[in-house]
Amino acid sequence: EQALQVAIDGPASAGKSTVAKLVAKRFGYIYVDTGAMYRAVTYWAMTHQVPLADDDAVAKMMGSLTISFKPGEPDQLVFANDEDITAAIRQPDVTNNVSTIAALPKVRALLTDHQRQIAAAGGVVMDGRDIGSTVLPKAEVKIFLVASAAERAKRRYAENITKGINTPLAQLQAEIELRDHKDSTRKVSPLTQAADAVLVDTTPMSIEEVVAAIAAIIKKQS
Ligand code: C5P
Repeated sequence: EQALQVAIDGPASAGKSTVAKLVAKRFGYIYVDTGAMYRAVTYWAMTHQVPLADDDAVAKMMGSLTISFKPGEPDQLVFANDEDITAAIRQPDVTNNVSTIAALPKVRALLTDHQRQIAAAGGVVMDGRDIGSTVLPKAEVKIFLVASAAERAKRRYAENITKGINTPLAQLQAEIELRDHKDSTRKVSPLTQAADAVLVDTTPMSIEEVVAAIAAIIKKQS
């Protein structure tokens, strides 16, 4: 059996990371959360007084920033150099600033290189916004995962509660919609469904159903 590249893209809170993790486990693939990389850069800039809209300054900062992952439950651990930033990068201030960082061309180029290196050998499930369209255009499997904004806000609300984050549901939905708008309308690698990606609308589906649907698509390819 071939070790494939599996790209899972879609708007915020569509369930990409939950599903990608389970799919990776099922096939013995590694899981790569590219959103966590953009979040790590955002967090690092915010805590090191680097202006978030300054592409050159943030790209320069990245020269002394190593982002890495370690196994952890329920979430993979995310490190910036030696600092565990797993919880910090999910805080609302990072979430609401990340689209600014994600619009910077030099920053995207650096992270895209890093992501391609990780995925080069295959056997990878990578989730994000531009994986099928830009990072891994030759990925054997491309999924575009969507759900209604109301459903996504509900899911994120429930997830936040377990992390002690108490943003009201209506505010969450507004923030999700704003982030999607920014991610979809930026000039460089906007959120978009690749022509050869399979659209999966998870609104009425359980996690198990989504995982089964994607696993079936992977099996067909391998
Ligand atoms: O997936 P997650 O919601 O954690 O991603 C956080 C943000 O990172 C997105 O809203 C988007 O601005 C950015 N991102 C991106 N390209 C990716 C992954 C994430 O621009 N491949």
